[in-house]
This record gives sequence, structure tokens and C-alpha cells, in this order.
Amino acid sequence: MLNHLRSALSACRGRGHRACASGAEPLRGALGPAPHRCAGRCGQHRCGVVGVRHPHGPRRSFAAAAADDEGSADKMADAAGEAQADSGAPKMVVFGGNGFVGSRVCEQGVNMGLKVVSVSRSGRPGWLSAAWAGHVDWQKGDALEPASYSEILKGATAAVSCVGGFGTNEAMYRICGRANISAIDAAAAAGVKRFVFISVHDYKAPGFFLDGYFRGKLDAEKALQEKFGDNGVSLRPSLIHGTRNVSGFDIPLGAFFGPVEKGLNLIPNIQQLTELPVIGAALLPPVSVDAVGKAAATAAVDPSVPGGTMDVWAIAKYV
Ligand SMILES: NC(=O)c1ccc[n+]([C@@H]2O[C@H](COP(=O)([O-])OP(=O)(O)OC[C@H]3O[C@@H](n4cnc5c(N)ncnc54)[C@H](OP(=O)(O)O)[C@@H]3O)[C@@H](O)[C@H]2O)c1
Repeated sequence: MLNHLRSALSACRGRGHRACASGAEPLRGALGPAPHRCAGRCGQHRCGVVGVRHPHGPRRSFAAAAADDEGSADKMADAAGEAQADSGAPKMVVFGGNGFVGSRVCEQGVNMGLKVVSVSRSGRPGWLSAAWAGHVDWQKGDALEPASYSEILKGATAAVSCVGGFGTNEAMYRICGRANISAIDAAAAAGVKRFVFISVHDYKAPGFFLDGYFRGKLDAEKALQEKFGDNGVSLRPSLIHGTRNVSGFDIPLGAFFGPVEKGLNLIPNIQQLTELPVIGAALLPPVSVDAVGKAAATAAVDPSVPGGTMDVWAIAKYV
């Protein structure tokens, strides 16, 4: 399956998107009678060969294309469902798929025509009513308990872990470190080909500051490198902005942090300035949750995305 993916993805290279960005003709065609046919100008391959739709023109989602076509979210859902029903669609398991970042990874996976399965302790969140969510298989499982999801990993091409959280040092190490290491180990044992881990920017924080959080992330990154080598990608985002649902209310974090991101990126040599001790961390631009979701889902199925860490600047290019 991976070789299949690799050859199909590498057959189409162009501007704007690393996997397939030939000029980004709208994806409207992809929602028509031949939903798997590559609708971009590349014309060099059928995404349906591997069941993956590339996000041609990264801003063009199936949702947007469907909305143009009679404004129908249902149509988008039907088209996405059709793709997932395709027996050849690669399966992507998303740990923490019901969270802020995880839900965007799932959405992106649905848009790409993947068969998406979310694993989290609470399953499908009540607040998620978007059409794409109907095409995710929402499973309950605890990353710390591999027996609760080892069957789910069978036959998966890729896995993404968005599991993380705050609390005491011990709790942070458990959720950021041990839970992710368990998921990485179980995925490797199940023969999953690629694994993407949502880590965090290395702020070079002093040891006492959120020690369990940062130590957990670094240990999980190490485990990923050991088990998956070039097929393991750790995304290292800074603060992530977008619309976050908290207790049923949408909080539009992007309204403030979106302009902050744009403003900081206007500063000349900003990337070098962020290397400065102390002040550097304050200058690091936030990234959008859409960019993180797209980067993660793409890295999960595109073997041309290099293994190792992906920094804030590389993630931001996915918007
Ligand atoms: N948000 C940011 O600004 C930011 C910045 C940098 C890095 N990150 C990293 O990005 C990742 C996602 O962050 P987020 O903001 O999306 O967090 P979030 O909304 O709190 O999502 C965390 C997810 O993890 C799941 N989870 C927690 N413990 C689990 C367990 N034992 N087994 C299975 N699932 C479990 C939760 O679902 P259940 O409760 O249902 O299990 C939830 O879906 C985290 O690793 C975080 O450290 C976030």
C-alpha cells in the first residue's frame, strides 16, 4: 500500500502543495460523478488509484467546493462518504480526534478521501455537527490502554496522535509522554506505516517550567524516531489558533491570534529573532489549526514529507 501511495503521490508535483499542486483548479469536479478523479490541472494521475484526494490549492476544501455546488453540505458529506466507502481508501487512525486539533486532522482526512477513525476516551463530541463528522468512525479508547484500540489499528496505513494536556507534572508526563509512547508502540506492532505526532515547539524552557509536558513530548518524539524512523513526523507547533469549542461555545481564538501571526511574520528576519534567548519565544508566530490539521493529515499519507521534526515555519506553509 505504501509503495502504491508513494508512486501515485510522487507522480504529480507542482507549485503550492508538495504532493500535488498543479495550479489548483477548483475541486468541483471531484464531487461529480467521478469523485476520485484528480480535478487539478496536473492530469497526470487519478487520486482514486490510492483513494487519496490531494488538497489541490491548499485553500480549496471539499466543503467549499460543495458549497459552490448548490450550497449543499449534504452533497459534500455524500461525496466524502462515497470516497470512504471505496475499499481502497487508506485508513488513518487519529488519537484524540475529538479535540481542537484532532478534529481538524479528521476533517482534513475526510476531505482527502481517507477512511478516518478517531480514538479518544469520550468518543464523538456532542458539539460536532458538521457534515464531515458523519464520515468519521468515532471509537472510544484510552491511549494508555493499548488493548482498547489495538484491533482498531489493524489495517491502518497511518496514525496521528493529538493526545496531550495539562495538569500536575506527573499527569502531564502521563498524557504527553506515556500515552503517546503507548500509541506509537501499538501502531508499530500493528504494522502501521506512518505515524504523525503533534508535539510542541522547543521553547528551551527552564527545567522547572511545565517539566512533565515538555519532557513527555520529547520522550514521545524519541520513541517515534526509534519505532518509525523516516516514517515518523513530529509536528512542533507554537500556540495554535482557530475556533475552539469550550463547553458547547465556539471561541474564535483566530480573531485575535490570526492578526498576531500575520503581524509577526511581517517582521524582517523573524525566524532568526525567535532564536534569541527569552524574547525569542514571545516573537514566535502562532499557527492556525487549519495549517496544523492539513500538515498532519498530509504527513500521515505522503511519504515525501520527511521524517523527523516539522517546525512552525514548515507547518504554516500548509494554509
Ligand atoms: N492548542 C495549542 O495551542 C497547542 C500548541 C502546541 C501543541 N499542542 C499540542 O497539540 C495536541 C492537541 O492539542 P489540543 O489543543 O487539540 O488539545 P485538546 O483539545 O485538549 O485535545 C486533546 C485530545 O486528547 C484526547 N485524549 C486525552 N487523553 C487521552 C487518552 N488517554 N487516550 C485517548 N485520547 C485522549 C482528548 O479526548 P478525550 O478527553 O475524549 O480522551 C482530546 O481529544 C496536544 O498534544 C497539545 O499538547 C497544542
